[in-house]
Amino acid sequence: MTNKIDTEESRKKIGFVKKLSDWNRQPAIFDDHTLKIDGHPVMEDWEDGYMKKLADITTFKGGDVLELGYGMGISTRYIQNNKSVKSHHVVECHPDVVIKCINDFREEINESKMHVLSGFWQDITPKLKDGSFDGILFDTYPLTEEEIHSNHFWFFEEAYRLLRKGGVLTYYSDEVKQISSNHMLKLKTAGFHEINFEVCKVNPPKDCLYWQDDTIVAPIIIK
Ligand SMILES: C[S@@+](CC[C@H](N)C(=O)[O-])C[C@H]1O[C@@H](n2cnc3c(N)ncnc32)[C@H](O)[C@@H]1O
Repeated sequence: MTNKIDTEESRKKIGFVKKLSDWNRQPAIFDDHTLKIDGHPVMEDWEDGYMKKLADITTFKGGDVLELGYGMGISTRYIQNNKSVKSHHVVECHPDVVIKCINDFREEINESKMHVLSGFWQDITPKLKDGSFDGILFDTYPLTEEEIHSNHFWFFEEAYRLLRKGGVLTYYSDEVKQISSNHMLKLKTAGFHEINFEVCKVNPPKDCLYWQDDTIVAPIIIK
């Protein structure tokens, strides 16, 4: 018998901010392996291999890339390492995380290899033109109880609008081995019909509050 943490209950227990803007008032606490904000386990570096897979999917066509959520910058680094990427825009809402991003990628930003858009994606992406990107990597964090394990659902329509035909969307999927029927329906309702995925092996620590399985799905969603 295993004593797995309930990854939904554990985060309900931590509690969520009342207004989205309150998230940005809590300090972002980085150590060598994790990022915590307001007591939430926002990012942990056991995800490195998974982040590499998501970055590989996003940059498959090279070209213009949009990334949502900087966190510890693990996927950002993998995207930057791909020389076929022409432009790379990163959207991040938290001011401390934006500062970390600018410090980590000062050279790339100065050379216009990377652009940081500071704010909530909900406010920023509506200002971006239709069909602007070849690849999109969405990896934010649920900021409300309702979004636990499903914060990506709210982005699908916007992703469809922002991608060029043939462009690819990938994201932190919250799926263990396949894409559930509800999840599939959300993608199809947004306009996506070419829906594939790979199953990645992961090894989260036993006390991880947001993932307790040894696999996670890397979506490959083509417009
Ligand atoms: C899981 S981390 C991203 C991890 C990143 N892929 C990496 O490899 O380190 C999520 C990030 O998204 C940011 N975030 C959460 N909600 C957001 C939103 N609505 N718009 C923009 N950024 C958001 C958080 O502040 C956090 O820095």
